[in-house]
Amino acid sequence: MEISSAEFVQSNTDVKKCPEPNKPEYAFIGRSNVGKSSLINMLCNKKGLAKTSSTPGKTQLINHFIINGQWFLVDLPGYGFAKTARTEREKWDGMIRNYMIYRKNLMSVFVLIDIRISPQQKDLDFINWLGEKSIPFSLVFTKADKQTRAKNDFSVKQFCEQLYKTWATLPPYFVTSADTKSGRQEVLDYIDSINQGFKQSGR
Ligand code: GTP
Ligand code: MG
Repeated sequence: MEISSAEFVQSNTDVKKCPEPNKPEYAFIGRSNVGKSSLINMLCNKKGLAKTSSTPGKTQLINHFIINGQWFLVDLPGYGFAKTARTEREKWDGMIRNYMIYRKNLMSVFVLIDIRISPQQKDLDFINWLGEKSIPFSLVFTKADKQTRAKNDFSVKQFCEQLYKTWATLPPYFVTSADTKSGRQEVLDYIDSINQGFKQSGR
């Protein structure tokens, strides 16, 4: 699949105010600064579409983008941003979890993991929560350009071994870089394959 158009639709704080759920949707989640917004821009080949920053906590709302006029990408605030007040964090947490549970057209969640960082409890907790709620997801390792291929392979293996402690099967996973665009086609092809299913039956 190639992307011919990618446009911002709206930002909000409430799943009830999201666009009509009549198109397949994919959401990007992960710890603050992991590269969610950068990955969306890389996939869409459009710098500045989703706002990025080297300061964690940049994305604070549920942001919808429409792609090729046919499906939605959603940029979400990161979890685990230590500097945020607890009440704020709880508010974000509720917003994200409600969105994930009640968004009917959410086909799959991409959970982003910084490939340089060993498995973190926050990520594992979130993944396990998705499993409990039967929300389909895959893993996207980010920032693959920042270290060697051998180290990347090791990180992926380490993460998979951690997941095997609680999961019988592993979700699909992708190794990506917003800088070199590696992994781009794999992620887009994966989305395309799920889009075909939506046309036939919906989630
Ligand atoms: P929040 O919205 O704050 O939760 O962050 P985010 O997950 O959206 O991260 P964002 O895309 O804003 O990127 C954070 C920082 O990491 C920025 O300085 C990006 O330039 C950098 N970054 C993101 N992806 C990559 C990557 O693949 N390679 C490199 N080298 N830097 C990256
Ligand atoms: Mg962001």
